[in-house]
Amino acid sequence: MSHSVPQHIAIILDGNGRWAAAKGMPRTYGHTMGAKNVETICRAAGEAGVKYLTVYAFSTENWGRPSAEVSAIMDLLRNYLKTCRKIAKKNNMRVKVIGDKSGLDEDIQHSIEDIEGFSRDFDGLTFQIALNYGGRDEIVRAVNRIISDREKGLLDSKAEITEEVISSYLDTAGIPDPDLLIRTSGEERLSNFLLWQNAYTEFYFTSVHWPDFNENELKAALDEYSLRNRRYGKTEAS
Ligand code: IPE
Ligand code: IPE
Ligand code: MG
Repeated sequence: MSHSVPQHIAIILDGNGRWAAAKGMPRTYGHTMGAKNVETICRAAGEAGVKYLTVYAFSTENWGRPSAEVSAIMDLLRNYLKTCRKIAKKNNMRVKVIGDKSGLDEDIQHSIEDIEGFSRDFDGLTFQIALNYGGRDEIVRAVNRIISDREKGLLDSKAEITEEVISSYLDTAGIPDPDLLIRTSGEERLSNFLLWQNAYTEFYFTSVHWPDFNENELKAALDEYSLRNRRYGKTEAS
């Protein structure tokens, strides 16, 4: 099977703070420009033929940042979700949020429900935003729901727990695993992102900070991806 264009790209958008600091600006300015760039890359990815795009916007660990930065990010998110609703309509884009939504402020939870419901049947790009997301937290929540569904009889208590069952209880149920993971700003780690789903994903790291990761940078990542030989444990690409 040809893998010239990845079906699903996941992005750890990193470096907003460093980008702003390099300009003598506050970190929050970096987050503002980083949020704008998400719009650009959504459009560019869709145009390149990508079907699923997942971005890591706020991790379960990011609550540990100074409270002023956390509230600035949450305010930005409130605004962003409004813009995103318009873009969803314009670009026929389906929007989904992964992560523990119950840990977010109620008004944000409502905006998320609204945009998810509103865009449910849009069949262009599927855009997943990871908010209050942690890969370990996602697996723990999945296991607890499996146990509770078994107790309630919603899941056959004799049936074996398979990879498919676990996948279907993750926040990403029904979404194919990422083919390509991009991390900007020089760090080369997963930081608790999509631990289960990235089992066979190609990784691409760049020193470019997220607000500068433009359409050409995306193209460079796609070009490199097209040269990778994906073997899935076999002897040749399948
Ligand atoms: C990524 O940029 C955005 C979030 C994690 C919310 P950072 O805020 O991590 O920027 P750096 O890594 O400190 O430069
Ligand atoms: C990962 O970036 C989380 C997001 C991009 C939302 P961080 O900047 O929080 O990750 P670490 O702390 O460098 O691993
Ligand atoms: Mg960072």
